[in-house]
Amino acid sequence: MPTPEQIPIQHEREARPMKRRHSASYYVHRARDSLTTRVSKIVCGIFLTLLFIGGVAAFIAWLSLRPHRPRIHIRDFSIPGLDQPTGFDNAEIIFNITARNSNQAIGYYYDSVEALVFYRNQMIGSAPLVDSFYQEPKNTTIFYKVLSGATLNVTSDRWMEFRNDRALGTVVFRVDITGMVRFKVSTWDSKRHRMHTNCDVGVNPDGSILASYKNKRCLLGLLVLCLWLSLRPKEPKFAIIQFSIPTSSSSENPRATFSYVLEVKNSDKESSIYYDDILLSFKYKQDMAGNNTVPGFNQGKGNNDDQHVPPVEINQRVWRDLAKEIPQGTARLNVELFTSIKYKTWGIKSKHHKIKYQGAVPIGSDGKIKDKKKKVKLRRSKK
Ligand SMILES: *[C@@H]1O[C@H](CO)[C@@H](O)[C@H](O)[C@H]1NC(C)=O
Ligand SMILES: *[C@@H]1O[C@H](CO)[C@@H](O)[C@H](O)[C@H]1NC(C)=O
Ligand SMILES: *[C@@H]1O[C@H](CO)[C@@H](O)[C@H](O)[C@H]1NC(C)=O
Ligand SMILES: *[C@@H]1O[C@H](CO)[C@@H](O)[C@H](O)[C@H]1NC(C)=O
Repeated sequence: MPTPEQIPIQHEREARPMKRRHSASYYVHRARDSLTTRVSKIVCGIFLTLLFIGGVAAFIAWLSLRPHRPRIHIRDFSIPGLDQPTGFDNAEIIFNITARNSNQAIGYYYDSVEALVFYRNQMIGSAPLVDSFYQEPKNTTIFYKVLSGATLNVTSDRWMEFRNDRALGTVVFRVDITGMVRFKVSTWDSKRHRMHTNCDVGVNPDGSILASYKNKRCLLGLLVLCLWLSLRPKEPKFAIIQFSIPTSSSSENPRATFSYVLEVKNSDKESSIYYDDILLSFKYKQDMAGNNTVPGFNQGKGNNDDQHVPPVEINQRVWRDLAKEIPQGTARLNVELFTSIKYKTWGIKSKHHKIKYQGAVPIGSDGKIKDKKKKVKLRRSKK
């Protein structure tokens, strides 16, 4: 009866004579093989070690360079007069919020930082905090603000609601800090990122901050977390070019038109932009001189389009005054552009963004853009 153990023994007996037959060359070969194996093992080892050290170094560099987001803390918040039934007459909200740049080597540029105060998701006040400033690494900036009068919208009904909450022990508000931030790493500047933080804050019946909310870190909006280091599409750029208007009015034909070309630039390398109808209005002083619409279109990545528009009829009453000023070379038309755009980045469409741009076309005595300038760039305007 062959047991399982017997089978390998038989194999060994058959194998041995074969090995003996080739012994000399076989062992030389094997020695050579093991030498090359050892050399390649050492080379591999060195390579892997270098790779590991390189990886660790890169990881440390990444850790130290990785931009930390601004750290926003609520230090103080109070609404004095909360204990008075008619306090809304001269209601005030006072807050102290700090923004820290905890990076070692990265500075921030802040732009249009604003504070908005909410009560039950209704905005009750807002105020700009800083327009634009540079915050160096390891710096803390204090946003201290008193909201009152025109910056605060507290009605007697609202005050009653505060008072009802107060009777239960706490009134909870929310402060949102919004703005734009860019990073600066030595000489390189990042794109602008939207910052949006919100801090819930509760106050005592006397209107002072509850201890449990003091020095709390504010949450960065989820959107910001996701978009933080992702690519935010660049806004399109608009300019008026080839502007031309008659230099005088004729009495037999009081009608006149002006013409221009709208230059539209999408400098974003990753996103195409879909424009809804673009409405352009041109005002002379306070009066509408003319307006027209550029039909919506789609613009590919990094494209530059010139939108030719039909001549724009000038309001006759306005033309009478405007025509008088043109020969003097001091006339100007204020342009406003409204549209709504959608970005498409890597196949993903954004939601609609309403945008408004504005600018002024200075008109030379030749009826063209003054001083032989080629274009009038339009600036993005906030509301
Ligand atoms: C605001 O809070 C910071 C940090 O607690 C403090 O150093 C600073 O003095 C406060 N500023 C005002 C005006 O209260
Ligand atoms: C932060 O920077 C501002 C202006 O650059 C400076 O006045 C302030 O002293 C700095 N604060 C700290 C804590 O370094
Ligand atoms: C103040 O709040 C009331 C109620 O929410 C609102 O109807 C009103 O438009 C607000 N006023 C201002 C100036 O924001
Ligand atoms: C365009 O101009 C006309 C007058 O010329 C005015 O009645 C109309 O409201 C303007 N449209 C817009 C959207 O401003």
